[in-house]
Amino acid sequence: MRWVAHLSDLHFGAEDERIAESLLEDLADFHPSVVVISGDLTQRARKKQFEAAGAFIRRIPVPCLAVPGNHDIPLYDVLRRVLAPLSRYRRYITTDLNPVFQDDELIILGANTARAAAFKNGRISTAQIKVLAEKLRAADGRLFKVLVTHHPFLPPLDAPSAALVGRGALAVEAFEPCGVDLLLAGHYHRGYMGDLQSHYVAVKRSILVAQAGTATSKRTRGERNAYDRIIIDPPDISFDRYGWNDRRFAKTMTTRYTKVNGAWQLHPRNIHETG
Ligand SMILES: [Fe+2]
Ligand SMILES: [Fe+2]
Repeated sequence: MRWVAHLSDLHFGAEDERIAESLLEDLADFHPSVVVISGDLTQRARKKQFEAAGAFIRRIPVPCLAVPGNHDIPLYDVLRRVLAPLSRYRRYITTDLNPVFQDDELIILGANTARAAAFKNGRISTAQIKVLAEKLRAADGRLFKVLVTHHPFLPPLDAPSAALVGRGALAVEAFEPCGVDLLLAGHYHRGYMGDLQSHYVAVKRSILVAQAGTATSKRTRGERNAYDRIIIDPPDISFDRYGWNDRRFAKTMTTRYTKVNGAWQLHPRNIHETG
């Protein structure tokens, strides 16, 4: 069994400091095997914002795997945007833009999908697809395989034409035979999940997608700040969403799946919303 905390869209520079502090307390309490941060660590990729994001990550008491988001590339500093778009991310967060976490039950691969030329959208390169597919294929088949990007592979249910990660279909085609189990992303500041097969009809493998809302940004776009606690215990997996209730993070929803005959099946009676 492995516990993972999935945070996204921290947006330091537009963060709520009280929520960020409370989140650190939560993470210390939960003490997951790893914390995944799926991009947009800063609001405008400024030095001070990266310093704050880096300081936040250093206070997380467990391993942390992060990928950049579109907000981690400067928007108005055109020279930096073109010549060194992720230089501050590399300096203050990590030089590793395609990080890997692995233990004896779990492998998590991160992929940078932020691109200066794509502005708020993002994409995955053919070179990344090739390397990621090789890593997924080479990983022990008993490991639970997770891929983390900032830009999503699955749109929100009520916005089926929302922009997705560029070359996503190509990537899915390459990753499907490599046994990937779960895709984690953010970007829309909305928490939702589903099976990749609901969008990519040609996909034969049942692959779960879990999108996290924004953990700490003041720009919440209609949803409260939230993060997910994921409990991986094959063939079961559960997602506990913790939402901010103006005082603390509290569990607001649990979604459970079991893999039966190769397909993720939702436990409808185990979904509940509270608070
Ligand atoms: Fe964001
Ligand atoms: Fe984003």
